[in-house]
Amino acid sequence: MIVSIDGRIVPPEQATISIFDRGFQHGDGLFETLRTWAGVAVTWPEHEARLRRSAATLRLPVAAAIEVHPAIEAAGGGDQRVKVIVTRGGRTIVIVEPLGPLPTEVSAAVVDLPLARRREGHKMLAYAENLIARDLAIAAGADEAIRLDADGFVAEGSSSNVFVVEGEDVLTPPAGNGLLPGITRGRVLGLGGRERRISVAELRAADEVFVTSAVRGVVAVTRLDGVARVPGPVTARIAGTYEGQIREQARSSVV
Ligand code: PDD
Repeated sequence: MIVSIDGRIVPPEQATISIFDRGFQHGDGLFETLRTWAGVAVTWPEHEARLRRSAATLRLPVAAAIEVHPAIEAAGGGDQRVKVIVTRGGRTIVIVEPLGPLPTEVSAAVVDLPLARRREGHKMLAYAENLIARDLAIAAGADEAIRLDADGFVAEGSSSNVFVVEGEDVLTPPAGNGLLPGITRGRVLGLGGRERRISVAELRAADEVFVTSAVRGVVAVTRLDGVARVPGPVTARIAGTYEGQIREQARSSVV
């Protein structure tokens, strides 16, 4: 594991911030989680743009330059998980650790912890609610929670976005209901997906369901609320195209 604080790499056991930092005391700060592909942080520019957009909305000062590459290089390339944290107290933290095994499928459960009515989701350090939603899903025998918006429609996963497939249509809930506009969600929309409100009944009746996140990519939901589902051809096609696109970008960026 490599940790840098304000651009200086420090031994993990010495990586500390002040207890007076609002980021620590109140979760007042933002974070981004992504992965590298053969040492290349292909999606970092998209994550940085989202972080800075949220920072502007939340009036959170952010360093002019967020240096992720020195920590990624120090971690020795390969496939790594990268977390970038910005606190109200002015700290910029980068944590790089081995990616580890990724799920090829997930089981999901709709949980009763709806999103608050808000226009846009931000990847705030105050993330406990997402973790509690996942705990509810785990208690129901699933890996990932599916949360509803304030009107009872499908919103997003506890740490992912949700897509359903109806025939050839690839659909995801519209932003604006409080969901986090995922980077991977944006790329899948770019591959032909479109936004539409999705009821719980439509979720359960869908031909295919998959979740997306920058670390896990595009992953089929093969069990929903305890009901087995067959991973479908459209999910496999989208997952293949998404990964192919990213690997090509990784290759072209090192050439
Ligand atoms: N989670 N919604 C929420 C609440 C998330 O936490 C995440 C990402 C997403 C997907 O966004 P993206 O495609 O930009 O990763 C949607 C990250 C992976 C995490 O668990 O930290």
